[in-house]
Amino acid sequence: MLELFQLSLKEAKIQSIVSPIITSLMMVIFVGVIGYGGLRVFSGDIFAGTFIAIVVYLVQTVTPIVSLVSFYNDYKKTAGSTERVFEIYNMSEEKLNGSEKLALEAFENADVTIENVSFSYDQKTTILKNISMHIPNKKTTAIVGPSGSGKSTLFYLSFSDRRLPLQR
Ligand SMILES: Nc1ncnc2c1ncn2[C@@H]1O[C@H](COP(=O)(O)OP(=O)(O)O)[C@@H](O)[C@H]1O
Ligand SMILES: [Mg+2]
Repeated sequence: MLELFQLSLKEAKIQSIVSPIITSLMMVIFVGVIGYGGLRVFSGDIFAGTFIAIVVYLVQTVTPIVSLVSFYNDYKKTAGSTERVFEIYNMSEEKLNGSEKLALEAFENADVTIENVSFSYDQKTTILKNISMHIPNKKTTAIVGPSGSGKSTLFYLSFSDRRLPLQR
């Protein structure tokens, strides 16, 4: 997370230096072209129409180059994150030991029943009060309630080994 923050900071710093340079460079080129072309038109060397055509062509060639550069930038960024996604896809499945397998099997083929469960995080405010429910196996059961009513708390309670952090 810190790494990402520092990278973004670095990107912002580089961008804040590079983009004004590029913008002023482009301005200088444009002023140069328009100034020089204006002089040539004024001295009668080229037609005003020719001059306008040159300016329009210039704009038309610069625009795709700019989008090509930003495309390359985006592509590099996306490639980086996609690599991480594939890393996760290619991870091997977690190895379970014998008792974990048995526990998982038992859990897969069992109903879940809770009776008069109460819980509080700080012993002052009761979050769950005498909850009882029966959740049949191989069926879909929905736990519905407004935000803060204790749905996530109820789930965390089923992870007695604290494999999931007790957080909001
Ligand atoms: N780690 C925690 N410590 C203290 N209070 C918490 C904690 N997590 C949740 N709570 C409180 O417990 C209540 C139920 O929260 P939660 O189970 O997250 O509800 P839900 O998932 O239904 O939105 C809320 O009032 C919340 O503020
Ligand atoms: Mg929740």
